[in-house]
Amino acid sequence: MATSPSTEDTAAGRRWTVAVLGPGGIGGLLGALLSRAGHQVICVAGETTARALREEGLRVRSAQFGDFTASVEADTELREPVDLCLVTVKHTSLNAALERIPPRMVEDGLVVPLLNGIEHPDALRRYFGPQRVAPGVIRVESTRVAPGTVEHGSPFTEIDLAGPADRLAAPAALLRAAGVRTRVAEDETTVLWAKLAFLAPFALLTTRYGITIGRVRTERRAELTALVEEAAAVSQACGAPADPAKALALYDAFPADAKSSMQRDAEAGRPLELDAIGGALLRSAGRHGIDVPTATRLVAELAAGVGPD
Ligand SMILES: NC(=O)c1ccc[n+]([C@@H]2O[C@H](COP(=O)([O-])OP(=O)(O)OC[C@H]3O[C@@H](n4cnc5c(N)ncnc54)[C@H](OP(=O)(O)O)[C@@H]3O)[C@@H](O)[C@H]2O)c1
Repeated sequence: MATSPSTEDTAAGRRWTVAVLGPGGIGGLLGALLSRAGHQVICVAGETTARALREEGLRVRSAQFGDFTASVEADTELREPVDLCLVTVKHTSLNAALERIPPRMVEDGLVVPLLNGIEHPDALRRYFGPQRVAPGVIRVESTRVAPGTVEHGSPFTEIDLAGPADRLAAPAALLRAAGVRTRVAEDETTVLWAKLAFLAPFALLTTRYGITIGRVRTERRAELTALVEEAAAVSQACGAPADPAKALALYDAFPADAKSSMQRDAEAGRPLELDAIGGALLRSAGRHGIDVPTATRLVAELAAGVGPD
């Protein structure tokens, strides 16, 4: 860990210095919670968002955590060493955003990306160095509705961090003390695939057909089942356990009106994380010689701009 500029005590021990690269839906929520818990939070963003954060702080509306505003620092580039850097941009912005974080600013700290997908940890290790990166996955529904304003809709916020337990004990304690249920698991492949194998069918089908999960599981049941089985087969080939029956049961328990974030991005005309989710699934399937016809067709259709009828 970097020598923190401040050693002031907080509920999680000492006061941490945390950078948040991309203070949007999840970065804004986590940055606000960590600031509220007494830590120094530096949000790294584009000029407009950085200015809004400096002037008005991070505003959170949350059923779980209440409505509050948290003061944070904000800049367009990270200019001081940090203990922890949360990477919370979308995959489509990752390369451009990384230019804002000189690797020397985290050379004694830890980089925790929380993006969906499985391929970004390698890219981040190439940029920051192999020892600096411990990826995580986050289960939450949180939306950036304006620069610096976040609406947190889910009644839960859960992170699984992947990596050595001794290394991750302190950041896990930091997140827990800020209110985020956090677990640590040694096996990165298992953690990342558990999220991707569940997310990919949900994202691809809701986005392709422009319908909620409730309608997917009734009107597109055969495709949902096929896709869940394909994703599970690829996950298993990559070394991560997967249970298609359990995944289907989870979809059946979802609120019928749930939409995926890829679907929301499509509706808003924003770039899709299609390559990080569907593309990564196809590339892994190809490496292991697994036939994934449903995923292949859906990814091709979405890449070609084929959307709801
Ligand atoms: N949101 C969720 O509920 C949720 C749940 C689980 C996983 N995830 C995953 O978490 C990741 C982030 O998703 P999100 O929904 O939090 O995204 P988001 O709301 O779009 O936030 C991304 C943030 O990155 C900023 N950004 C974009 N380009 C940048 C650049 N070049 N430099 C610096 N900052 C830049 C954006 O700035 P502006 O504010 O200026 O636009 C925004 O604040 C994705 O991989 C997503 O799949 C999200």
